[in-house]
Amino acid sequence: MQDIVRQLKEKRAAAEMGGGQRRIEAQHKKGKLTARERIELLLDPGSFEEWDMFVEHRCTDFGMDQQSVPGDGVVTGYGTVNGRVVFIFSQDFTVFGGSLSEAHAEKICKVMDHAIKVGAPVIGINDSGGARIQEGVASLGGYADVFQRNVLASGVVPQISLIMGPCAGGAVYSPAMTDFIFMVKDSSYMFVTGPEVVKTVTHEEVTQEELGGAVTHSTISGVADRAFENDVEALAMLRRLINYLPANNRVAPPHRPTPDKADRIEPSLDTLVPDSATKPYDMKELILKIVDDTDFFELQPEHAKNIVVGFARMQGFPVGIVANQPLVLAGCLDIKSSIKAARFVRFCDAFSIPILTLVDVPGFLPGTAQEYGGIIKHGAKLLYAYAEATVPKITMITRKAYGGAYDVMASKHLRGDVNIAWPSAEIAVMGPKGAVEIIFRKELDDPARIEALTEEYRLKFANPFIAGKRGFIDDVIMPRESRKRICRSLAMLREKKLENPWRKHGNIPL
Ligand code: HXC
Repeated sequence: MQDIVRQLKEKRAAAEMGGGQRRIEAQHKKGKLTARERIELLLDPGSFEEWDMFVEHRCTDFGMDQQSVPGDGVVTGYGTVNGRVVFIFSQDFTVFGGSLSEAHAEKICKVMDHAIKVGAPVIGINDSGGARIQEGVASLGGYADVFQRNVLASGVVPQISLIMGPCAGGAVYSPAMTDFIFMVKDSSYMFVTGPEVVKTVTHEEVTQEELGGAVTHSTISGVADRAFENDVEALAMLRRLINYLPANNRVAPPHRPTPDKADRIEPSLDTLVPDSATKPYDMKELILKIVDDTDFFELQPEHAKNIVVGFARMQGFPVGIVANQPLVLAGCLDIKSSIKAARFVRFCDAFSIPILTLVDVPGFLPGTAQEYGGIIKHGAKLLYAYAEATVPKITMITRKAYGGAYDVMASKHLRGDVNIAWPSAEIAVMGPKGAVEIIFRKELDDPARIEALTEEYRLKFANPFIAGKRGFIDDVIMPRESRKRICRSLAMLREKKLENPWRKHGNIPL
């Protein structure tokens, strides 16, 4: 017995040291924390229950039978974040570069299986050199086992990936199938093929950071939802994100009491929209002024900035916010913004988070780049996502709601539950100038007449009443009352029940 206890202590000590002091120091020198330090910071103090510390790889080739570290390069288990259970795996770069062996994959699969059974989020901390080269196809199989679980868990429990080191080749596809990806600047990267291969094939010279660093993926590609300065910041922000999410798709998102009154009036909103229809304003100002405690957790803030998405609370209940941003591309919908918002809407719908849509959209962005890039298909993603969503949907039109984009942005016709507008709303097929230039094309050489017709069109259509007459909007409200009206609507909709017809699955235009 004493011998077993001694062995236990030794094995624990060996597992806790990972790849040894030298490699831990190397990890720290790169500005990175170790797998265990990350878990410690992420979870509530003392809440971590580790599993499979004694798992070792089974590879005997290339001298691997002489090298083994208990735990095999990934620390797994469960714990709590603000008292709520989460499952976690954290790859340990100090052990064979965090590379994924068959045994390492089995450990990840075990926590994922439990997370699905129990109904709790899975958090994956990625810091790995990819497939364990010595194991060959066994390791590839391990990856596919993880991919399969990512797909089965999708829409069942929230899955969040933190990229805190290398993540390359096929390994990127596990995080890619999770709901949110956070990256750390200068110490993490994700790419399917690295700079060397890129150079050989396309003759492009590019650094790791340029090709797949946190800045690249949070601005250009949109693969990452947020980029942080260091591990500590990323972990703290992950704790914040989890606070908005339900544990699974069968329970409500967590409520957090707030001193911020639901009927708070915000007089400054009455002057937020400028008199001139072409003058921009910051939609984020509106968001911050209506949500609880000015607290908004934005996702993809640097990518497709013409649309804003993120989580907030209204009367303590989480909501997903989708808002056109007039400051960027006048708030037009384009390929990237449609994809960004569609994915967010689908996440909210899968996890019972009501959607608040704030509309100021002049239409879809014109041009060959958009048409050749498939704006038809990508714009349809957002349309599809809204139309499919059965969670409470509240839409507030602050200014423009033109053309197809009016329909897309959670209109009444897509089962918007409560659709309200500010007096400054203009709900029409297009802006007055464009409309007159088309209808009265033959009179374009008479500027005075065109101006008069434009004014006539503006008076007739650039207001919320035409839509109001048909019941397409439920009410026109004073901007200052926005929070109160939205909170009331959300309270009214709390027990909303709506089901789509049975089907195996729809066929969203991918
Ligand atoms: C086994 C690995 C490893 C791997 C790194 N190591 N990657 N061991 N399998 N895939 C080991 C190294 O031998 C080294 O061991 C330690 O981890 C640290 O690696 P370094 O190279 O010293 O670190 P660094 O300079 O920071 O470079 C990190 C790296 C590099 C860029 C990740 O190690 C690298 O290029 N690794 C190979 C990446 C790769 O090609 N992976 C396979 C991709 S294909 P010692 O003992 O010296 O500390 C793939 C397919 C997935 O992943 C398919 C899924 C469908």
